[in-house]
Amino acid sequence: MSQPQILPAWYRSSEHYVDIEYEAIFKHSWLFACLTLELEGKAHYGVRLGNTELLLQLDEEGHPRAFLNVCTHRHAKLCEPGQHKGPVRCPYHSWVFNKQGIPTGIPSKQCFPQVVAAPEQYRLAEFACEVVGQFIFVRLSPEGPGLREYLGNQYAFLERASQGMNGVLDEFQEDVAANWKVVIENSLEGYHVPAVHTRTFGEIDGMSREAQAPIFFLDDPLHSHLEHAAEPDWVARFARTERKIGQWPWRFEHYTHHLIFPNLTITSFMGYSFHVQRFDPFTTDKTRVHSRTVGVCLSNSTEVGAKMMERIYADGHTFTRKVFAEDGDICRKVQAGLEQATRPAVLGVGIEDRVAHFHQAYVRCLPKASQNNEHLAPAKHELQNV
Ligand code: FES
Ligand SMILES: [Fe+2]
Repeated sequence: MSQPQILPAWYRSSEHYVDIEYEAIFKHSWLFACLTLELEGKAHYGVRLGNTELLLQLDEEGHPRAFLNVCTHRHAKLCEPGQHKGPVRCPYHSWVFNKQGIPTGIPSKQCFPQVVAAPEQYRLAEFACEVVGQFIFVRLSPEGPGLREYLGNQYAFLERASQGMNGVLDEFQEDVAANWKVVIENSLEGYHVPAVHTRTFGEIDGMSREAQAPIFFLDDPLHSHLEHAAEPDWVARFARTERKIGQWPWRFEHYTHHLIFPNLTITSFMGYSFHVQRFDPFTTDKTRVHSRTVGVCLSNSTEVGAKMMERIYADGHTFTRKVFAEDGDICRKVQAGLEQATRPAVLGVGIEDRVAHFHQAYVRCLPKASQNNEHLAPAKHELQNV
């Protein structure tokens, strides 16, 4: 279980990313794009997944659709990343596209008789798009398994976690100067916490210190998760305030962290909010992280309880940003090391089993021929010696 399988060269080689990783992983996996609640109210949403710029919107039946973010007139990019109100309107000559991606509003339309005669032939290129609960996924390849099959047991988790999700409470996007695999791996182990988050994690508590408290779920070939039991005393204290805070749809007594391979993590403590992060590789040494805290509806909360919850959320946002900055900083140092590294990593038994599982999932997706191509990118110091 604990043999590392991702070679140092695979974290620094743009050739490996473009020719192998993108094709084998980002093209064929279901990639998390955004949440349904971000598309409601006639909004559309720009997102880059793999190396493809996409535009998502809900059609008339409320199904999410994913289109290439390129105008069929003269190729302008239709929208920037993030949420936009109103219909899709090209910034160049103002063609308007409907919910099916068909151009229906064309200025000086008499000049485009072929488009007016058969507008559906000029519809935006479309990709496979499926949803579970609030979570919208896109598959760039036209062929592959359906979303339910791809997600396995995580399908039920996403469905359940979505119950009562009612809005994004906090959101940020930031770049981390490291390969996307470094950033994912960092999220999969708590071994670095005492060194990297020395004081930060001491400030929030509620997690059991029992050695057996974190349980790993590694049975799926691609995805993994952990559950870390809450401290019983802490839960008892929390329960006394719950009468004021109210009830929410899925209450559990642990911290959970899920990796939905390859680009989504979801964490939650007790289920009163969910932290949803999407990891977008930009270059071999830059990853954009889109982080959202999603709230769930609370029923029967008192005014005092609502204020307490606001405080819990505000503290959570400060904490999340601090942890993010600390992790970003260490990931940058890992990438700097990887630029020089020639030997594979060493993975600890137990504590780094989810990292090892990620390595296995990653290698499982690669074509056989590329799995031992160690010399794709020489380390920087090797280049200097040439
Ligand atoms: S390029 Fe989009 S309307 Fe002309
Ligand atoms: Fe961390």
